[in-house]
Amino acid sequence: MSGSTTPPASSVLDDPAELARRDPEAMLAEVAGAGGQARVALRAAQAAPLVGPLPEVVVVAGMGGSGIAGDVLAALSFHESAVPVLAVKGDRLPAFVGPGTLLVAVSYSGNTAETLSAVEQGMAAGARLVAVTSGGALAELAQSRGAPLVAVEGGRMPRAALWSLVVPVCSAAEAVGVLPPLTDQVCAAADVLDEEAAALGPEVATADNPAKQAAVALLDRLPVVWGSGQVGAVAATRFRTQCNENAKVPVVSGALPEADHNDVMGLEGGLGPGRELVLLRDEAGEHDRDGRRIQAVLAALGVADPLLRMAGKGPDLARLARLTAFADFTSTYLGIARGVDPTPIRTLDQVKAALSPRAGAPR
Ligand code: PA5
Repeated sequence: MSGSTTPPASSVLDDPAELARRDPEAMLAEVAGAGGQARVALRAAQAAPLVGPLPEVVVVAGMGGSGIAGDVLAALSFHESAVPVLAVKGDRLPAFVGPGTLLVAVSYSGNTAETLSAVEQGMAAGARLVAVTSGGALAELAQSRGAPLVAVEGGRMPRAALWSLVVPVCSAAEAVGVLPPLTDQVCAAADVLDEEAAALGPEVATADNPAKQAAVALLDRLPVVWGSGQVGAVAATRFRTQCNENAKVPVVSGALPEADHNDVMGLEGGLGPGRELVLLRDEAGEHDRDGRRIQAVLAALGVADPLLRMAGKGPDLARLARLTAFADFTSTYLGIARGVDPTPIRTLDQVKAALSPRAGAPR
């Protein structure tokens, strides 16, 4: 009989050679570099001609790893903006889009079909366009129409460029008076990302590393991820999408307190052995009653000890950074522990290729 056994996940995650072998395109290094990425993005945004009049409404059009920048802007604007801010994920824009609209189109590749359709519609309706992209058709379109363009660093997977995209999208809103000055906030977020990389990075052993511990706890489980406050809700989405793409696992995510009104029924009788509850709490953004609501739902489900991550203190972007760093490291470790390469997204690529406007066209 062969004596070979599967090594425990923690020993895989604490072995540098095994990490390098299982993460050949270095997603962990990308995650660890998020703070530097935010600083570069701030300089790029500050160099772009984004200043303009206060719009009647801001619409951010983008998909997937780019589109979440729109969710971030909507979360930041919630308590700050006098005008509505909406993230749109699809080809079509709402009927109200017109000359008073600031349309921020965000696509890392610049070639995402839905985002390009939304831009065409927005331009036809007279919206003012700002493009955030590393190139592609979106950059060409912005240049040909004389629209402001923030050119972000290329060469990454879109989801590994979160801060390259979030910073200019938020800066576009700042430059028209929708958000107050952001520089200090972005710098604080960059510092948090560096701190989290030091605390959660691959050099820190599982015994002292909450992201590795979370990945081990989530192995062979369905993560149920809830976030509180506007920031926690975006972080829950990011946790889900990062686990989908980095670890290739399904995840259920929701926002509190809304999840108390429906998701909770999907867990009737308790979490059960095959699920793990992840709670991303942003106490600074919670309503006064949310703490009690969270205690109540945990008691109702009989969950004494969820995987809890707190957003801590600081401005919105810094608190978000604390939670997204946890999501990004945990999901990458989960992929590595599962033995899947975190970087490639073959099924997603296949779907996008099948739906590209050029698919099926005569050669
Ligand atoms: O994470 C990914 O790779 C995807 O979700 C993409 O972000 C999505 O398909 C949109 O592509 P792009 O970001 O290039 O516009």
